[in-house]
Amino acid sequence: MRIILAENYEIMSKKAAGFIAAQVYTKPDSVLGLATGSTPVGVYDNLIDWHKKGYLSFKDCITVNLDEYCGLSADHPQSYAYFMNEKLFRHIDIKPENTHIPDGLNDDADAVCAAYDRLIESLGGIDLQLLGIGNNGHIGFNEPDKYFRMDTGKVDLTLSTIKANSRFFEREEDVPRQAYTMGIRPIVQAKQVIMVVSGKQKAEIIYESLFGPVTPMVPASILQIVQNLVVCGDADALSIIAEKHPQSVEFV
Ligand code: F6R
Repeated sequence: MRIILAENYEIMSKKAAGFIAAQVYTKPDSVLGLATGSTPVGVYDNLIDWHKKGYLSFKDCITVNLDEYCGLSADHPQSYAYFMNEKLFRHIDIKPENTHIPDGLNDDADAVCAAYDRLIESLGGIDLQLLGIGNNGHIGFNEPDKYFRMDTGKVDLTLSTIKANSRFFEREEDVPRQAYTMGIRPIVQAKQVIMVVSGKQKAEIIYESLFGPVTPMVPASILQIVQNLVVCGDADALSIIAEKHPQSVEFV
């Protein structure tokens, strides 16, 4: 595990984007696992910038996103399909047919989940998985629970996640209560995992995830078993780790 501390969000985002760019340079047909939420937006901005400058092409890449709200269509402004299109896909040369996100409008959960797992398997797994972390330690929408969910599933969002994500909706009641999420298996089996974490409010949970016990009550703690894990954080998010384990932090 590498923990890279950047002075601020901008530097963190550039550093994390650099890992993705390096992955795409060395394997142009990479399978990229992508995340939504506010934290990766800066990463995507850098990728778009490098693409527009002609340094980086995604024309042979395949993407699989972590999750999607149940009940939201791809053209709903709060759906993750819409987010990915707005924040990344429509600005780069990725082929739309090579981008994958669970279909939030499909009620047949068994079919959606089985098809998503089959898809990831048929792609030979994920080369590089980008992750954020929820305030409660969730990765994707794998919420704290009694067990680690291994495969894609339809999950109930916790109150903490509903509250955290209500900032994107007009009213808290509008936040969908369920979502499809990739399971833990393809995440931990990814050849490389890059996590981005920003802000003081994440300092405790990222510390607990990386240095506390591995427990499904803190889903991100499973990342401790991932050999090729890079955590890129800003100074606020990594403040507790930098204080308690200064020797495990690299500075950029
Ligand atoms: C989104 C996702 C979530 C977010 C997490 C943090 O696809 O998988 O796990 O990464 O909720 O979100 P932000 O970055 O908005 O704090």
